Formats: sequence, C-alpha cells, structure tokens
Amino acid sequence: MNFRSDNEAPVNDQIMQALVEANQGFEESYGYDRFSVQFKSQCEALFECWVEALPLTTGTAANSIAMALACPPYGAIYCHEGAHINADECGAPEMFTGGAKLIPIQGDHGKICIHALTEKLAHSGVHGEHEVMPAVISLTQCTEAGTVYSLEELKALKALKEQYGLALHMDGARFANALVSLGCSPAELTWQTGVDMLSFGATKNGAMMAESLLLFNPKYKNQILRQRKRSGHLISKMRYVSSQLCAYLTGGLWLSLAQHANQQAQTFFQACQNQVEFIHPVEANEVFCRLSVDKIAALKQEGFEFHVWPGSQDIIRLVFSHATTADSVKQLIQAIKE
Ligand SMILES: Cc1ncc(COP(=O)(O)O)c(C=O)c1O
Repeated sequence: MNFRSDNEAPVNDQIMQALVEANQGFEESYGYDRFSVQFKSQCEALFECWVEALPLTTGTAANSIAMALACPPYGAIYCHEGAHINADECGAPEMFTGGAKLIPIQGDHGKICIHALTEKLAHSGVHGEHEVMPAVISLTQCTEAGTVYSLEELKALKALKEQYGLALHMDGARFANALVSLGCSPAELTWQTGVDMLSFGATKNGAMMAESLLLFNPKYKNQILRQRKRSGHLISKMRYVSSQLCAYLTGGLWLSLAQHANQQAQTFFQACQNQVEFIHPVEANEVFCRLSVDKIAALKQEGFEFHVWPGSQDIIRLVFSHATTADSVKQLIQAIKE
C-alpha cells in the first residue's frame, strides 16, 4: 500500500481516455493544436482573467521558466528554505536565470515567515551594487510540509511584493489540493492575491507528465514564449500534454480528485490524532507524523510504503492521492493503532 508519493500514483482513467482520444490523426504542432488552444481558454474561464498558459512536462521547468521571466541574473529570489526550488531542483532556477541568488527564508510548517522576510527585505540594498537586487518572492501552495497559506497570509506577502516592486510566483504542484482545502476561487488564490505566475501542476493529482506555467501578468507576455523555447521546453507534440490538462479541468475533475486525496488525509488524521504526534497541521494531502522506530519498521514489514523524512529516524511522510483507497487508509489506521 503506497503512501510514499502522489508521483507514484497511476494516471486517472478519464485523463488516460482523453489521451487516447487525442491520439487520432494529425494535429498541429508546437502548441497550435486544438487541445493547447482549449487549455488556454479553460484557464481563462476558470481564473476569470487573461492567462498565458504553457503546457510543460515537469514542475521544475515551470518554476525555472517563471524565475527566468521575473528575475535578472543579478536578482534575488526569496523562498522558504524547504521550497522545492531551493532544496530539490539541483540549481535549475539559478541556471535558468543565468545566476540569480535564492535567499532561503525560515518559517514554521513550510511557510515563509512574514517577519523574517520583512526583516530580510528591510536590510536589502545596504551593500548597494555589491549585493543582488530583490526581484521575486516564490511561495509553495500547498507547502512542502502539507500546509496551506491562508488568503490573509497571502495578502501579507502581496503587501511586501508591492512595497518592494517584486514579482510573486506560486509553485502550485499541488494547487488543486490547496484550492479545495481553502474553498476559495482560483482567482482569489492567485492574481487577486498578487500572484503573477503559477506553476500549475496536474501530474501528482491524476495526470501523466502534465504540468503548466500560467502567467497572469501581461508584463512578461513578450518574453515567455522565447524563454520556453530557449530552455528546450517548447514541446512539438504538445497535444499529448494539453489533452490531459483539458480533461483534468473538464467537469471539475481536478477538484474531485484533490478532494478525495485531502479527505483520505483528514480521515487518517481524525482517527490517529490522539495516538500520534503530527508534526504539521493536516490541511491537504500530505501528512507528517512521529512514530517509534520499531513501529516504522513494523509498518514497512506489513507492506506499507512511505518515506522516513530525511534527517530524522522517526518522522514519516504519508502522501494521500487521488488513487488512495478508503480501504488502504483504514488498514493503515488499524496497523498504527495496534
Ligand atoms: C512543491 C513541488 N514543486 C514542484 C515539483 C515538481 O517537480 P518535478 O520537476 O519533478 O515535476 C514537486 C514535485 O515533487 C513539488 O513537490
């Protein structure tokens, strides 16, 4: 029973079917296919604004192209210390920007501490041209700790963005999980809270290699297509990514898949909260909890798959996905309580 990663979950049947249907005959290449055009208009309807939508195959590409758009080589990108762009992308944002500097900010439960960021920005510029120039705030929604920034927390980041004239990027590898957790609209969670660009993931929530970068701020409109091409991410047979993204958004599929995943995590949390120490609030589909080393070994022995969090021996991460069954959650709860 797999609780290791939503990246290990299978592709949703409706999305797979859409892919099969998209594989009929010839179709224009490089983003001029029906599906890529449709994806852009679906995004515009959903987000209630103009959107430039770039179907991509990895979240790292989406994040890195976003950084390259908004940050000069001598710029600074402020993000949480545990952010994927800082901890898990092998320097891709630095490479794509031609050498920008990531400034990791601490903060509880995977969220940028607003006071720490305020302090950092207040001291920026004291070394003049000797230091990098503040350019981007990048936040992850849901965070790497499975938590969700509230709209109030996002508004505080927006205020800083505006005060310092920065760009605001959201890494939404699990955007759908955050959206259903908050119950707000896609517009409220993005451009209405100052987000200029969103790395909009679908892979973890039911698609196969289907990610995207959504641009809400037309300021970067002229650069984005060339940034994509020169980084090697203009996909010739784009229909195979776009058709998945269209199916993902059609009829609210993306929301029901995320709702299911979040619900499984909540069921687990509700059942175990009195026995187990939870490291972070359970707000979406990832759960971090402390178990004894013996218990961890026993669970593994029983066939439960999950990560022991790097750097610890007794903290595990459980990821609940669109494909996690209620029965497997029940079995996990029983095994933990035994
Ligand atoms: C927060 C976050 N951002 C981005 C990504 C995208 O990663 P990849 O480049 O592997 O698609 C991931 C995947 O694990 C992630 O968890």
